Order: sequence, then structure tokens, then C-alpha cells
Amino acid sequence: MDRFIVDPVEFAAQAERWIGDRIHLVLESSRRCYLMLAGGSTPLPIYQRLAMRKDIPWSRIDLFFGDERCVPVNTSENNYTMVMRSLFPDGDRPDGMNVYRMCGEENPDKAAEVYELVLPERIDILLLGVGDDGHTASIFPGSAALDEEKRRVMPAIAAKPPLQRLTITPPVIQSARYLLVMVQGEGKADAVRRALVDRSVPAAIALDGDWMMDTQAARALPEDQRLGF
Ligand code: 6PG
Repeated sequence: MDRFIVDPVEFAAQAERWIGDRIHLVLESSRRCYLMLAGGSTPLPIYQRLAMRKDIPWSRIDLFFGDERCVPVNTSENNYTMVMRSLFPDGDRPDGMNVYRMCGEENPDKAAEVYELVLPERIDILLLGVGDDGHTASIFPGSAALDEEKRRVMPAIAAKPPLQRLTITPPVIQSARYLLVMVQGEGKADAVRRALVDRSVPAAIALDGDWMMDTQAARALPEDQRLGF
């Protein structure tokens, strides 16, 4: 449960380093690395940096998604499309790499059931973002997913478009071997402050993970809370 407050210009490099280090750590003792990525805009430069690294053994990685918007796959709002274009801009997926897409454009209930079947028992490395309302993955404030203890993937309704989504649930987040919550920008500062003191904030589900934020996202933290960073 490490906490990092980093300079905004260093954020993407520090997050990329955290991810790369844990991929190598997992693969020291496992044949495959189960890596689950976040959507949204914060991780984009981080994925682009990972794409430039020569030492990531993509052929030994199974890639999963923490949530998906129920939009056609080749639209810019689709997390799978954002991730694949960022990691593999030339469109070539490395041999041996498995990518498990949440088929959000299909029936959400059916797509959630199908995705549960491909999820490993435990994700090795899980990346999450935080919305300015405190959501994480597509678990939004007041969502039924907040209290879900059995299903590991479920349909969700977002507070902002695209409204229909699929999301992992707290059991997946809380069982991850390595968890990084990535938060950048002043617009997230209040959400971060609330998540650290109010368990009803969805991002609080991830409190046991590592949190990496820039100085702007951390600016609303009271001094005693900063001590944990
Ligand atoms: C999504 C994400 C979502 C995201 C937050 C933060 O599908 O939008 O998975 O949980 O991480 O909304 O988004 P930004 O990084 O764009 O601020």
C-alpha cells in the first residue's frame, strides 16, 4: 500500500516504471502475467511509454480490461480500442499475447457472464483510474456494483456518457496481486480526499492498493493524510 505524490511531468514515467517493474516481478515466478488495464485518458501516455519499451515480454502477457463502454469497438470511446492503439500503434499484436476484450457492444448481461468465464482467479496487475465523482472502473457512486460480492463482472450505468458499461466488481479489485490507482489533475483532488475518508466513495474499494497521483490531484489532502504518501 504505497502512496506516491509525483510532479505532473514525471507522472507518466513513474507509472510506467511501476507497471514495468511489476510485470518483470510477476514473470520471475509465473509463466504468464495477467494484466488488467484501466480506460479513460489518464493512462494513455503511460501506455504509449510502455509501447516504446523493448523489455516488456508481451508474448507472456494476458491482457484484460477493468471496464468497457458499451459502444462499437472501433470508436474512440471504446477502452479496448484506446488501449490497443496506444500499446500497438502499428496494429500488430505480439505473438503469444492473449487479449480478452469485454464485448460491450453485445447484450451487457451476456457479455458480463462471458467475461467472467475468461477472467483468471486472480489478476496479477490491476490498473485503475478515478473519476472526479470518485468512481473507479465503471463503479459509480450509488451503484449496485459497490456492494457486489459474488459476480466479478456486471453491467453498470455510468453517471456520464457512454451510460451503458461493463465493470469489474470489488472482489476483482480486492484480490489483485498488485494494484495501482493512477490519479492526475486538480479536478480529481476532491475525489481523492473523499476516497481516503469515506468508504462510500467507489475509489475507496482500492485503498489497499498503491496510489500514484500528481501534486495537483493531491492538493486537497489534509497534512495527516499526506503522511501516508
Ligand atoms: C473509463 C475508466 C474510468 C476512468 C475514470 C478516470 O472507462 O472511463 O475506466 O474508470 O479510469 O473515469 O478517467 P480519466 O483518466 O479520463 O480522468
